[in-house]
Amino acid sequence: MLEHDVLVVGAGLAGMRAAIAARAGGADAAIISKVHPVRSHSNAAQGGINAALTDRGDDWEDHAYDTIKGSDFLGDQDAVEVMCRSAGQSLIDMEHMGVTFNRDDEGRLGTRAFGGQRRARTFFVGDFTGQALLHVMFEQLIKSGVQRYEEWFVTSLIIEDGQVAGVTALELRTGQLHAIRAKSVIFCTGGCGRLFEPSTNALIVTGDGMALAYNAGARLMDMEMVQYHPTTIAGNGVLLSEAARGEGAYLRDKNGERFMERYAPNMMELASRDVVSRAEQTEINAGNGIDGCVLLDCTHLGERLIMEKLSQIRELGIDLTGRDMIRELVPIRPGMHYIMGGIKTDIDGQTNVPGVYAAGECANVSVHGGNRLGANSLLDTIVFGERSGDHAAASAKTVSFVGFDEDEVVSREQGRLQDMLDRPDNGDRWGRIRLEMGDSMNRNVAVFRTREGIEETIQELQDLKDRYESVPVHNKGRVFNTDLVFALELGFMLDCAEAIAVSALERRESRGAQFRTDYPARDDDNWLKHIVVTKGELGPELSDLPVTITKWTPEERKY
Ligand code: FUM
Repeated sequence: MLEHDVLVVGAGLAGMRAAIAARAGGADAAIISKVHPVRSHSNAAQGGINAALTDRGDDWEDHAYDTIKGSDFLGDQDAVEVMCRSAGQSLIDMEHMGVTFNRDDEGRLGTRAFGGQRRARTFFVGDFTGQALLHVMFEQLIKSGVQRYEEWFVTSLIIEDGQVAGVTALELRTGQLHAIRAKSVIFCTGGCGRLFEPSTNALIVTGDGMALAYNAGARLMDMEMVQYHPTTIAGNGVLLSEAARGEGAYLRDKNGERFMERYAPNMMELASRDVVSRAEQTEINAGNGIDGCVLLDCTHLGERLIMEKLSQIRELGIDLTGRDMIRELVPIRPGMHYIMGGIKTDIDGQTNVPGVYAAGECANVSVHGGNRLGANSLLDTIVFGERSGDHAAASAKTVSFVGFDEDEVVSREQGRLQDMLDRPDNGDRWGRIRLEMGDSMNRNVAVFRTREGIEETIQELQDLKDRYESVPVHNKGRVFNTDLVFALELGFMLDCAEAIAVSALERRESRGAQFRTDYPARDDDNWLKHIVVTKGELGPELSDLPVTITKWTPEERKY
């Protein structure tokens, strides 16, 4: 049987960082990914990575305060401290690995401003920072000797006596199902953006790790906190990086007014994302937009700056809207981008299920709380990916493999997949259910939410879950059966969607990305706490956990 001390699931930045750290810590580490690592969604992170460097006169405590304020005081402050203290070293490590960050006029690492931060501390590579980091990390992964299972799809987590024992995974090229034994499994599978339509996320971002961990007893936390990014293209959801506003772009309504002046007079377009997205949606709802959009104005930035620092999004704007941002305003709107919630972990990535870890967007450490600051996600992946890998490697020295009957596990899982393949062809296709789910989430669990709307979505999700039981798989073959994979992904997505919707219904206040028009105020007396979802016999069960406050007392949030 295939066997590794540490098995990382997902090969984006968090996953590769975790695997490299585990290997460096002496573990037999492997990484498994449903796509080739450099096709992971970390590729899509555009604007940069935050770090407070002391030689620039910056201070990790300022970064921590901005992060905590950005989180609307829902982030756990001990975890935020860990992330912000580690940021400088993580950045330098990436630079030493070979990332060619943009430089300033003096030849030092250059910074740009990003939302919700009082100083420019975002380091970047043009407007494709994630891609630059991902490719360098992949080189390091190859160098490290970590065993790679590329284009293998994990179908289940194997738990014996409450402890992780390994995973079952489909080798997509051959269709063969394998059991892989592992002392620990680190989920780094990214978020679940595609359960909203549209979304800035790649089609592969389907909540696999969150759902696998949840179904194995792990806790999901803050799932109601879903980030809508202020600058996405209508219809397809493609991201136009916050880097544009970081470099000085304006937001205008149909009359040319810079409306952010009325919502965030100090930070204007660089207020935190939840604030900017709400302002845009308010203007659009009031009829001050054009075709459901407001306008991104980069025309004063000049061709040279745009070509040097924003060339990718300029091209996206031309290709997808027909507008050249060098001389034209580009229509944009808020679009689903990121989930702050995820698998509850401690600062070393450990969950409540022994041997199961999580890092990156699928995890909730919790450093983002109610709203993540732009460019803190790349940082989160590197810092907590590394910590998880370190911890799992150290733990591998003290724990033994958990035994299980390979034949029995594989044949049971094979039977489940065969049942799906054998279904009659008369149910709804996975694509239809996926689209209905995405529409419902984007209608009712979006920038503005109401009890009635969320209840409608919960009802619709129940109906979709019932219909999911008879989703047919038309392709009966073994080789690259993406029809089967998409059907399996849909099951994961429905579990995550339900966890998000019930949490949004439960939180009867407005904080960060959760804005309830029926409870428009933040209510620290009753809701300064995390909502936790666990899987019960009859569906999701809710509980709560306190927020860790160290030195930053919650205060009214103004930008
Ligand atoms: O706008 C952006 O470049 C997105 C960055 C992020 O989500 O961190």
